[in-house]
Amino acid sequence: MSEHAIVRTTDVTKSFDLGKHTLEVLKGISLTIVKGRYISIMGPSGSGKSTLFNMIGGLDKPTSGKVFIDEVDIAQLDAYELAWLRCRKIGYIFQTFNLIPVMTALENVTLPMTFGGTGNDEAVDRGMELLRLVGLDDRYNHKPSELSGGQQQRVAVARALANTPSIVLADEPTGNLDLNTGEEIITLLKKMSDELEVTIISATHDFKMLNVSDEVIWIRDGLIDKIEQRDELDISVGTIG
Ligand SMILES: Nc1ncnc2c1ncn2[C@@H]1O[C@H](COP(=O)(O)OP(=O)(O)O)[C@@H](O)[C@H]1O
Ligand SMILES: [Mg+2]
Repeated sequence: MSEHAIVRTTDVTKSFDLGKHTLEVLKGISLTIVKGRYISIMGPSGSGKSTLFNMIGGLDKPTSGKVFIDEVDIAQLDAYELAWLRCRKIGYIFQTFNLIPVMTALENVTLPMTFGGTGNDEAVDRGMELLRLVGLDDRYNHKPSELSGGQQQRVAVARALANTPSIVLADEPTGNLDLNTGEEIITLLKKMSDELEVTIISATHDFKMLNVSDEVIWIRDGLIDKIEQRDELDISVGTIG
């Protein structure tokens, strides 16, 4: 069970056709992510992290290569199956929170459950439970504009967990937050990874993320530079300071 590959990519490339020329963003990414771990995809801005994130999350298609979720080649899924996967199996967290402005915190969290077919009473109960988990149950009736950035991202974490996904994908979850608030979100994600049976995959260039990661996949220029496990990391974290 512990060695189960929840995500696997084989030689994934992605190019964008820019008219005059083609931009090769991912140049052959092969990786295996084991269930239940906290993975950081680390690399400088422009290295292809978000592009890879979109491939793993089934939000975009590779130019070549394959993405397997739970050993299913997602290119083989029809539109309905892919929508089901994106709704039920994966939770998404974005740099800019992406909450729906006219909805309350609770409504934002229950929305994916409604899409997933959960009844209203059950969705509200679970929504409140998730808001409690992220420490925001007292703000359930607040709209995003009435919440701080850190609080909005907590709501987004709760929303990502709405349909008990096996994977949470976070793209620069601390990118719009100050140092302390960013640390709070990292601690929260770590707690989710420890307490719930969820695999966290976070694309980031925030070195604070190194402290909580079980594994770091370093990306440079569309290629994997190196993959480091927790015990190897302690050394490089020390040198970053
Ligand atoms: N839809 C797109 N069309 C054209 N170029 C893109 C597109 N998406 C990303 N890129 C380019 O791909 C490169 C990698 O982008 P991205 O994956 O967003 O990097 P990162 O998330 O690591 O900062 C950048 O040069 C970016 O401009
Ligand atoms: Mg990015």
